[in-house]
Amino acid sequence: MALLKRWIIATTLGVAFTGLAYAQEAADTVAPEAATRLLAAQAERQPVRGEIAMIAAANHLAVEAGAQILANGGTAADAAVAVQLMLGLVEPQSSGLGGGAFVLYWDAAEKRLTTLDGRETAPRAATPTLFQDENGEPLKFFDAVVGGRSIGVPGTPRLLAELHARWGKRPWKDLFQPAITKARQGFAVSPRLAAQIAGDGDRLKTDPAARAYFFTGDGEPLQAGAILRNLAYAGTLAILAEQGMDAFYSGPLAEAIVEKVRGAEANPGLLARDDLARYRVIEREPVCVDYRDYQVCGMGPPSSGGLTVGQILGLLQPFDISAMSPDDAGTWRLIGDASRLAFADRGRYMADVDFVPMPVKGLLDPAYLASRSELLRGERALESVEPGKPEWDHALNLSDDEAIELPSTSHFVIVDADGNIASMTTTIENGFGSRLMVAGFLLNNELTDFSFRSHSDGVPIANRVEPGKRPRSSMAPTIVLQDGVPVLAIGSPGGSRIIGYVAKTLIAILDWRLDVQTAIDMPHLVNRFGTYDLERGTAAEAMAPALEALGYKVNVRDLNSGLHGIALWGDDVPDISVLESGSPYLAGGADSRREGAVFGQGALKCDPITACIR
Ligand code: DON
Repeated sequence: MALLKRWIIATTLGVAFTGLAYAQEAADTVAPEAATRLLAAQAERQPVRGEIAMIAAANHLAVEAGAQILANGGTAADAAVAVQLMLGLVEPQSSGLGGGAFVLYWDAAEKRLTTLDGRETAPRAATPTLFQDENGEPLKFFDAVVGGRSIGVPGTPRLLAELHARWGKRPWKDLFQPAITKARQGFAVSPRLAAQIAGDGDRLKTDPAARAYFFTGDGEPLQAGAILRNLAYAGTLAILAEQGMDAFYSGPLAEAIVEKVRGAEANPGLLARDDLARYRVIEREPVCVDYRDYQVCGMGPPSSGGLTVGQILGLLQPFDISAMSPDDAGTWRLIGDASRLAFADRGRYMADVDFVPMPVKGLLDPAYLASRSELLRGERALESVEPGKPEWDHALNLSDDEAIELPSTSHFVIVDADGNIASMTTTIENGFGSRLMVAGFLLNNELTDFSFRSHSDGVPIANRVEPGKRPRSSMAPTIVLQDGVPVLAIGSPGGSRIIGYVAKTLIAILDWRLDVQTAIDMPHLVNRFGTYDLERGTAAEAMAPALEALGYKVNVRDLNSGLHGIALWGDDVPDISVLESGSPYLAGGADSRREGAVFGQGALKCDPITACIR
């Protein structure tokens, strides 16, 4: 179990942070060790607990940056800006200024949940054949990704400005200081970043700027521990700190981005200055579903995350999962087939609702879900799964989607001292995005989240490329409420497996009453399209024969989620009764599969059996 053990580093960031603690995992690629039972595999890691404020994110430097802002009286929105700017430096392969993001924000004073869409958009010159060859056949994935073609207008910079404008308290400039300082001083390349550079080799070398940054002069990939300075990023941040995020979308920085995208030698893109100038963050309706005693709220279209997680939970609502064992293949039959049914609807109906009419309400309608859930009453894996026919005031013939999705991305959660919450999933899509680097950051390849085919047998696909459209996402930043009060915030990277990671972790917390850290570390079993993915090197592998006997194909593989979550009312269960007993506290978890950390202000030492010592 040694690999599962977290270490706690007591550290001081100044008097305001006595009692600061981190939980951090050394190796990102490490999955929990195998054990005889799923739950037995988890016993050793515990959440970090704090009484006042908390941050859970994918890198300890990002967590520290956010902690500094909170220490100076910043809100969750202020801290989110600092965390994102630092992630763009120390985890550049996953997210940054060149990408897009979705955020759920709980405003404690207003008791209001807002969801903001900072998704990338297709250039106005893009057409449905963007990712097709001269014969109308889909391009190979990496032929589409690397270069300028896949790059959508970045949304993250404007999303950060929006967060600050709506809920920030600290001066804008101050939020940039931690990342500017670290970019100038240099940071140690993490084991995960080093492994990803080495693993990406030639693709990352195609752009001279990326080659110069991620490789030595001899063309060797940077090693873990190498000190990396990013003066170009520091310079960009200094401009944005001074002039605001409009300076990203017009002027010299915008020109440099456009030049890079259109000038990409092998694969020039279509992005124009006007595309950048027109970019807007969009406030969307939160997508909420009732599950047990909770309301599980997530991101609506253009993300499929909130709707698909919501459908999975809605389909499971008639079944008492809490009475079923996570070690029983029958339990995973229910969860896996609920997921397959939800993915069938996702493939048929979900896309950017501003371009394609969608039965958003119908997909989560309790009567529709109850009737679909009847399909789960059998004893064996469903032989085939078709999309349902949700209630819809629209007639449209759509084909199933064919988008390809591969890993990178980051999720973080912040709770400030006033109880405001930011739950944000942020991405440049593939690891290192388009591989094009400009002004110290990488540009996204988010447009490859569109379906490469525009039609199937002459019938249009909802998620086809269209000018100005946002590609369908699977990102699922989530906030769970009970009686209108937030009890849990969570999310993950993982491409379309995000949906399975988040749904499983919600079930583990809300049904099986696991604490947030244990639920995050629990081995993954994910089923999207029929094959059951079982997490390599964990107790999930042992489920293979039983799942095969139920009729599933299984595939043992690495399942590198990056779940970060905070339970707001203690780690036993996110239950309002803890509030009534008068001793609420925050409990945070960071995924042992990555390099995450949890910061807890007013840290508590808790004995799992007895109580927390204040
Ligand atoms: O928006 C999406 O769903 C994807 N572009 C996210 C990519 C991702 O999570 C890769 N993860 N490991």
